[in-house]
Amino acid sequence: MSELTRKAEKLDAADELASKRGEFVLDDVVYLDGNSLGALPVAVPGRVEDVVRRQWGELRIRSWTEGGWWTAPERIGDRIAPLVGAAPGQIVVGDSTSVNVFKAVVGAVRLARPTGPERDEIVVDATTFPTDGYIAESAARMTGCTVRPVEPSSLPDVLGERTAAVLLNHVDYRSGRLHDLPSLTAAVHAAGAVAVWDLCHSAGALPVGLDEHGVDLAVGCTYKYLNGGPGSPAFLYVRADVQERFDSPLPGWNSHAEPFGMRPSYEPAAGAMRGRVGTPDILSMLALEAALEVWDGVTVDAVRAKSLALTDFFLECVAAYVPEGRVSCVTPLAHGERGSQVALRCPDAGDVMKRLIERGVVGDFRHPDVLRFGFTPLYVGFAEVERAARVLAEVLA
Ligand SMILES: Cc1ncc(COP(=O)(O)O)c(C=O)c1O
Repeated sequence: MSELTRKAEKLDAADELASKRGEFVLDDVVYLDGNSLGALPVAVPGRVEDVVRRQWGELRIRSWTEGGWWTAPERIGDRIAPLVGAAPGQIVVGDSTSVNVFKAVVGAVRLARPTGPERDEIVVDATTFPTDGYIAESAARMTGCTVRPVEPSSLPDVLGERTAAVLLNHVDYRSGRLHDLPSLTAAVHAAGAVAVWDLCHSAGALPVGLDEHGVDLAVGCTYKYLNGGPGSPAFLYVRADVQERFDSPLPGWNSHAEPFGMRPSYEPAAGAMRGRVGTPDILSMLALEAALEVWDGVTVDAVRAKSLALTDFFLECVAAYVPEGRVSCVTPLAHGERGSQVALRCPDAGDVMKRLIERGVVGDFRHPDVLRFGFTPLYVGFAEVERAARVLAEVLA
């Protein structure tokens, strides 16, 4: 037994989250792609069966009221809230992340211009996930703004009187770099602008502290570290004290103050409900609600501590096993700058990932040369991490 195998055994034995793995449907594949699609929680299939057969099949329309379908978007929002450091009443679940980015960015520009169009720039993380950039560009055209791309570390240099809204990723999807949400939010506010954070790669992986750091608006997906299933609905956070001024660019009947009044004119609902649009996607939404039960008794701090231990150990194993110079790490080594993934640059990354998957180690490939490995602390163990690095070294040898 090698020294690293022994170390993995010890780390697994001391892992306080180890029993959580049993709450997921997994096999002997080393699954390091939970930052793309989280694994299936054991409770989900039975719940979906109940929602379809009993709630829909038997109760039919009554489920909207008696079964709690109507209130699901805010109820599930409140279940996500403690995972991202938010008090209840500020998160609504529904629509895709892309749609919520649109609501948030246009809503942010409107918040930043209480008396008319003065501020005319939307600042966007230059390495952002493509959809955020496309939507910011469209939002800019609609609101008479221009988009200004920036490396998040240089954000303070471009902020000013013209800045209306700033859209940033908490963790960069490709490199795994964690951006400094508290100080960047403070800089946005010092310039009089509105901060929108994309939490897709941090929600459920590390503490976010939305309320503590005064974030204005945030969006995030639920199919990565929250394990809600393919295409599960996203969430939108609107801080309590800006809710009354939040003017959604998609004012549907579900966010009306009196949805069943069927009024010709729009009057927005109070609270998180203001972020809704149309009829919620109940099947996906209730699958997500079942998936969130794995968080019972789990703190985000414990998840973060294990996440850092997993990524540290992976880097240690890669350094020990992989021939020098064959890969270079794109993810920052400093804990304060690392999300819950490790991205390794390697010239033939697409082919390498194919061979890893054939050998039972699943990560993913990001164009043009990045091997991405996501570490979900609720179900990934240290022995698996050692095996992944060992197989990677064999594939690269
Ligand atoms: C950082 C980030 N933002 C936005 C999105 C888009 O999410 P969706 O396709 O669910 O709208 C993704 C999807 O992976 C993402 O990683």
